[in-house]
Amino acid sequence: MTSPDAPAAGGWRVPFMRPDLPPFAEVGPAIAAAVASGALTKGEHLRRFEDEARAACGAADVVAVSSCTSGLMLVLRSLAAVASMRRGECPSSCGACATPAAGRDEVIVPSFIFLAAPAAIVWAGLRPVFVEVDPATFTVDPGAVAAAVGPRTAAILACHTFGCPCNMPALAAIAERAGVPLVVDAAHGLGTSQQGRQVGAAGLAQVFSLSPTKLVVAGEGGLVATSCGCLAELVRIGREYGNDGGYGCDRAGMNARMPEASAILGRASLARLPDVAARRRAAAAAYRDELAAAPGIGFQHVPEGDESSWKDFCIAVDPARAGVDRDGLRAALASRGIDTRAYYAPACHQMQAFKAFLPAGRSLPVTDRLAATLVALPMGAHVTPDVARDVASEIRGLLPASNRPALA
Ligand SMILES: Cc1ncc(COP(=O)(O)O)c(C=O)c1O
Repeated sequence: MTSPDAPAAGGWRVPFMRPDLPPFAEVGPAIAAAVASGALTKGEHLRRFEDEARAACGAADVVAVSSCTSGLMLVLRSLAAVASMRRGECPSSCGACATPAAGRDEVIVPSFIFLAAPAAIVWAGLRPVFVEVDPATFTVDPGAVAAAVGPRTAAILACHTFGCPCNMPALAAIAERAGVPLVVDAAHGLGTSQQGRQVGAAGLAQVFSLSPTKLVVAGEGGLVATSCGCLAELVRIGREYGNDGGYGCDRAGMNARMPEASAILGRASLARLPDVAARRRAAAAAYRDELAAAPGIGFQHVPEGDESSWKDFCIAVDPARAGVDRDGLRAALASRGIDTRAYYAPACHQMQAFKAFLPAGRSLPVTDRLAATLVALPMGAHVTPDVARDVASEIRGLLPASNRPALA
């Protein structure tokens, strides 16, 4: 595990993130063996990682890929093919293939999401339909999703934003009623539980990220967890250029394989997930305790019975009450050696690549407000509860009103 006492990355007293990694001694021998044998890809560790991830998230199948983004691209690109395998004709009899007929091209997605999601939608030849998020949980608002469903809807793409699970029961009911698949950008979802269960099993597919800011790290990598045997098969073929195994190709794919060294790292990292998640929960609790009384500072609400992975810990800054706006607070923290991020600013519907997808006259005020007011505080291997309290006390020191004695 990275020592919290190691020198600050990039000269920061408290860097924004430091990866939660297993010690090299845990992975070095397996990597050395893979190099010595030449089994650098499509090896034993990849298969075992998929099995272990399947057990961890409770999905019927898990396909390891090169990133969450490539996993989302392959899933979205496969929807029309899954649709053609109508219920009853599904070779795996998985019963999860009841997706709408091909020819639909819209994916309902929150604009308050990391840009990889709309990028994957566009790469898959589909169009994002941006909708609002819930102002408390920051996850997609099921009411907004229901209102956006129409004859062109190909899929609903939700997200476990910052690790807070999205409202899967409500979204699954909407998807079921509309007869469209529910896909989840679960990039932040390892370490997230909903009503006591690690997320991953619900919906047509949930796609996790294993990049260095996540709780389970493979260097780079992604995991497609799915209940649908047809989709799993399409993603397996799709990650291999579209090669059906006999050098035939029905659908163009890409190289989205996970290297064996990443699978080795991912396996060791997955084994540590309960510890890493517990440490993030402790850091998040320290942030909340220290900032609970700070004026103008709000938090993401995690629904009762659910657990966030705390991939990110964000605070909302209300300038009228805090006496400082988000960017002013970030600048002041930076001058004290504390690195932060403005997640997600700009929101996707404000980006050049995607703004044409928001029809003229439509606005997303909750998303705009979150994009203008949220700060992600340092989180990762170096953020012990003491570090979180230190950062929080710097924040309190920047909010003059928080230092006033309480009225008797
Ligand atoms: C919400 C979300 N979706 C998708 C991604 C993309 O993941 P990857 O880098 O594995 O492609 C990220 C990356 O951090 C993310 O935060």
